[in-house]
Amino acid sequence: MNEYDYIKQQDPELYATLVGEEERERTGVELIPSENYVSRAVREAAGSVFTNKYSEGYPGRRYYGGQQFTDEMERITIDRACQLFKAKYANVQPLGGAAANVAMYFALMEPGDTVLGMDLSHGGHLTHGHPTTEINKVFNFVRYKMKDVDTGEIDYDELRAVALEHKPKIILAGFSAYSRELDYDRFVSIAKEVGAYTVADVAHITGLIAAGVLKNPFDYGFDVMTMTTHKSMRGPRGGMIVVREDADLAKRINKAVFPGMQGGPHMHIIAAKGVAFGEALHPNFKTYAEQILKNAKAMEQVFLNEGVRLMAGGTDNHLLLADVYGSLGITGQEAEDVLDSIGITLNKNMIADDPRTAMDPSGIRFGTPAMTTRNMKEAEATRIAEIMIDMMRHKDDADKQAQHKAEMQTLCEAHPVPESFV
Ligand SMILES: Cc1ncc(COP(=O)(O)O)c(C=O)c1O
Repeated sequence: MNEYDYIKQQDPELYATLVGEEERERTGVELIPSENYVSRAVREAAGSVFTNKYSEGYPGRRYYGGQQFTDEMERITIDRACQLFKAKYANVQPLGGAAANVAMYFALMEPGDTVLGMDLSHGGHLTHGHPTTEINKVFNFVRYKMKDVDTGEIDYDELRAVALEHKPKIILAGFSAYSRELDYDRFVSIAKEVGAYTVADVAHITGLIAAGVLKNPFDYGFDVMTMTTHKSMRGPRGGMIVVREDADLAKRINKAVFPGMQGGPHMHIIAAKGVAFGEALHPNFKTYAEQILKNAKAMEQVFLNEGVRLMAGGTDNHLLLADVYGSLGITGQEAEDVLDSIGITLNKNMIADDPRTAMDPSGIRFGTPAMTTRNMKEAEATRIAEIMIDMMRHKDDADKQAQHKAEMQTLCEAHPVPESFV
């Protein structure tokens, strides 16, 4: 039997959507910086019998019987997580990055306490207290921004001033649309002054930290990291919280995840996280992560050479945020649509202090983790960036559209998604 033969026979309606998605992923280039392709082994674990099992609690302390294999599997996953992030404790049960953040807030604070995090309009994330989120009703969120949107430098003086004024319980470093390294030392020294915990939400750069190609906040004394296990980590969709060394913090985090927030953990996904962490411990993963950065730099060069304004002036990580409205006269939505039509998937995104709306902003955000998984290197990254700019410059040119679409398809056929990475 092939992978989907049972679904095919039993449920043709749903099977058609699977075939469609496979085809879409195979024939187009994925540049959404938070997406990736997982290995066959990760998919096997995610589709395994562990989905049958209820395992409320933690290894050795469960509410139901029959846990000999789930306990062993979760321990292996935890051990690998600790090794990857230089952490003493890991909770691998959060269902996603948002769930990890909410559990972390409740573990470290009382309702009404304050978090100092990065402003969403300057690259932060919804779960860092955006007014539309429920968590914003429970805790008080204050913000820091970039000092200069064209260099990406964070305004650490403002950060310190806001910290001194508001006395946050948590100073949160982390982002979903910011392309520079952070000065983790500064965060820690400001947190010490006001007695705050330091937490890094490294959801986007989890894999890059695990591989050692970006700085690990724990090396600078951060207390906690929250993260996703998909994105650059190239594992199943899920979340995780790791603690550098404080046993009491780890205990509070465990309680906040279960029974505080969640019910039965998704054991099949924890198994898939374990498999992905095993892959990340393999030397190939470092080579992969280095190539992600090289590919992002190659794209950066094309955009800068073509005079397209990049937020933060460029990138040190896997993602880029381009002001296409200001530089090319095309809106973020128009760019997303026209690039989608030639097989390049990315997302519209607000740029810092965007004069336009979230539904049709000035920018696009794109990144290299998924294309790098397909073994595309600087030459392909350069060519894709050239095609992107040409298509955005000539968005109504049907001939160019056909020509670029054909080239993208040839490129994708030459770089199939590998089944295994080790
Ligand atoms: C910084 C950051 N935190 C949290 C999340 C939320 O993760 P999830 O979608 O798994 O809930 C994201 C996802 O984009 C993110 O970028």
